Amino acid sequence: MTTYTNSSSPRKPLIAGNWKMNMDHVQGADLLQSLAEGLSEANHDPQRVEVAVFPPLTTLSTVQALIQDDGLDLVCGGQDLSPYDSGAYTGDTSAQFLAKLGCRYVLVGHSERRTIHNETDDVLNAKVRAAYRHSIVPVLCVGEGLEIRQAGTHVEHTLTQLRAGVEGLTEEQAPRLVVAYEPVWAIGTGEVAGPQDAQEMCAAIRADLTELFDADVAARARLLYGGSVKANNAAAILNEPDVDGVLVGGASLDSAEFARIACAEKPQTAAPAL
Ligand code: PGA
Repeated sequence: MTTYTNSSSPRKPLIAGNWKMNMDHVQGADLLQSLAEGLSEANHDPQRVEVAVFPPLTTLSTVQALIQDDGLDLVCGGQDLSPYDSGAYTGDTSAQFLAKLGCRYVLVGHSERRTIHNETDDVLNAKVRAAYRHSIVPVLCVGEGLEIRQAGTHVEHTLTQLRAGVEGLTEEQAPRLVVAYEPVWAIGTGEVAGPQDAQEMCAAIRADLTELFDADVAARARLLYGGSVKANNAAAILNEPDVDGVLVGGASLDSAEFARIACAEKPQTAAPAL
């Protein structure tokens, strides 16, 4: 049973698996089914911990159909979306199509989109707003590269991305927001930021949300950490008070490993859950 849920927190932990450009629809169906089995064997409690997967676009409808038809305690999301709702935007995917497919979430501004596709903060803000227009929760990804971390300006850098991403959101929209802090130097590298690094940034993000909106928004928005999360480091990260979940890349492609992350135990040294 998961024990890291902070009983005084209004935030339900979110364990998110970003499959990136892996898993065609046949492979994705197998992965989803073995993940569902792994979660059930590990006594995953969907009332306490939400588990979401982000398959590639062509795999999404297969995954959604399985979730619905088999009544699985999982939700799915898109990896990207267009800032526009419809029209002559070849290759893009509208938030309304994702909504129709039953997506609850969509990743916005993953560092691979920012770097490989040169997505700017302005475009990402438009994508965040497009998601809200269709009642999809954006998972806004922010985080610094190695040079910025070494220069010691990582908090400032990350908060600048956050502010640009959430600009114009209303106080009704903002509490549903999910922000994923993913230091770029820790993504897919095996380098993991320490739990205290994750906590430092998530606390800074939460304080900034108080300034940008209000204390209620800050208390309700969920903040994730991502970057080389594995079953053996997840519990310590999740145990930090401002970390409400994890965004997992590589390890989400291994159903047993990902199920262990979703059911991570609180370290023995930590205070017992109430
Ligand atoms: P990783 O990827 O877990 O493989 O480091 C995380 C991510 O890119 O979201």
